[in-house]
Amino acid sequence: MELSENEAKVLSYLASLPEKKKKIPETEITVAGLGDREVSSAVSWLETKGLIKVEKEKSVHYGLGEEGKEYLAEGLPEERLYSMLAESGRITVPEAIEKLGDKKARIALTQLAKLGIKPGKGRLEYQEIAGIHETFSRRREFLSALKEGEYTESMKELLEHFRKREGIIIEKKQLTRLITVNDEGRKYAATHKEEEKIGQLTSEIIVSGEWKSKAFRKYDLNAFVEPLSGASLHPLTYLVNKVRRIFLEMGFSEMKGHYIEHAAWNMDALFIPQDHPAREMQDTFYLKSAKKLPMEHPEITEIVKKTHEKGIKGYTGWEYKFDKSMAEDLLLRTHTTVNTIRYLYEHQEPPVAVFSVEKVFRHESVDWKHLAELHQIEGAVYSKDASISTLKWLMRIFYKRLGFTDIKLIPSYYPYTEPSMDVIVKINGREVELGGSGVFRPEVTKPLGLKEPVIAWGLGLERLAMIYYGLTDIREIYNSDINWLKTYKVRL
Ligand code: PHE
Repeated sequence: MELSENEAKVLSYLASLPEKKKKIPETEITVAGLGDREVSSAVSWLETKGLIKVEKEKSVHYGLGEEGKEYLAEGLPEERLYSMLAESGRITVPEAIEKLGDKKARIALTQLAKLGIKPGKGRLEYQEIAGIHETFSRRREFLSALKEGEYTESMKELLEHFRKREGIIIEKKQLTRLITVNDEGRKYAATHKEEEKIGQLTSEIIVSGEWKSKAFRKYDLNAFVEPLSGASLHPLTYLVNKVRRIFLEMGFSEMKGHYIEHAAWNMDALFIPQDHPAREMQDTFYLKSAKKLPMEHPEITEIVKKTHEKGIKGYTGWEYKFDKSMAEDLLLRTHTTVNTIRYLYEHQEPPVAVFSVEKVFRHESVDWKHLAELHQIEGAVYSKDASISTLKWLMRIFYKRLGFTDIKLIPSYYPYTEPSMDVIVKINGREVELGGSGVFRPEVTKPLGLKEPVIAWGLGLERLAMIYYGLTDIREIYNSDINWLKTYKVRL
């Protein structure tokens, strides 16, 4: 059997007690360096290990209540009334009430009646009662003894008296644990000088060489310890890293963008008409700020104005009057395709393979599959070999690397791609759209100077996380409940 350092200390303390103090209340055990709690826990363990006997003893302690404290301060009501009576010879009940207050007068009258002074015709007459002053002083002394916590058995009679008077006595029940070392314990303490062994190796013990002459305490490898959970990544961060790794391994470069964009880049450069519903206030967060930010590549406004109004060779455009001030509106980007289009404008030499995993904002009501802030896995390939077939292949390969072989690709529509294609997956029997993709229209690529086809995609990260982690509600991903997060054992 092994004892902990604290258990050994308590046991040797108990074993060294003189004969007449063999049985000791737990609260009186004093071991240097141990607090009440440590002692108490060591006692419990020593009992479990059968080295000590613990007897429980119930006891009651008496203290002084509020009313009792008042009596001590201002005098017992009965004594006060009696002295008033001694002074004036007689006193009416209303007078007594006026002097002592309703409650105390009532108490004083009752107590005096018990001592032999009863009111007749609504008043009290003075009477000399033998021993009454001794009674009062015994009562007072009793109350002050209680206040000091000095109650003894000899005061029992007074205790009984005051017990019947409300608010004077407080009873506290206490459970005392009385400890005795048994034979086992005594034997153990005599043979194992645990407290003399080295429990913790310190630099002093090494430097002084003390370790050479002393025994070491055994280290109990089977002792119970609270399991610790180390740090781990948030499930979404883990997934972001995984997605990034997939694209990086395929030779893509990562691009970075910013939350605030001009409509010119977020919408116009992508050939989204100025009256498109997606531009409405109910879909997009616009910035109120009158302070305009300088636009990156401001010449873009003139370029897209021409395309929107007149089109390009072979294409008519939207044939409306383009409003340049709308192009300068600032907004929280609604998609990361804005990253792609600006990146391509800045990198016009094919081939280009680029991606980003970044946050976008939509004025959307939040429900089980919608968030107002979400991440998009964006990407594009700009190359003479880029086509709808390469796009389909890429989408399937990407999802397959994440473990999803069962995705559906269906025709769709975006103002900036033709053809367009959506990625669909089934969650709990319901079909959920994971994102959009397509081949950029010539109205998007040509005016920016791009000579080869561009395939592009924008996929929801949180919806992907939903199926990846088997969630039924997208909002669970942003649940900050640490216990929920701990259930995901994701590698760092
Ligand atoms: N930008 C689209 C969206 O936010 C997705 C998309 C990206 C579609 C690229 C086509 C091409 O849903």
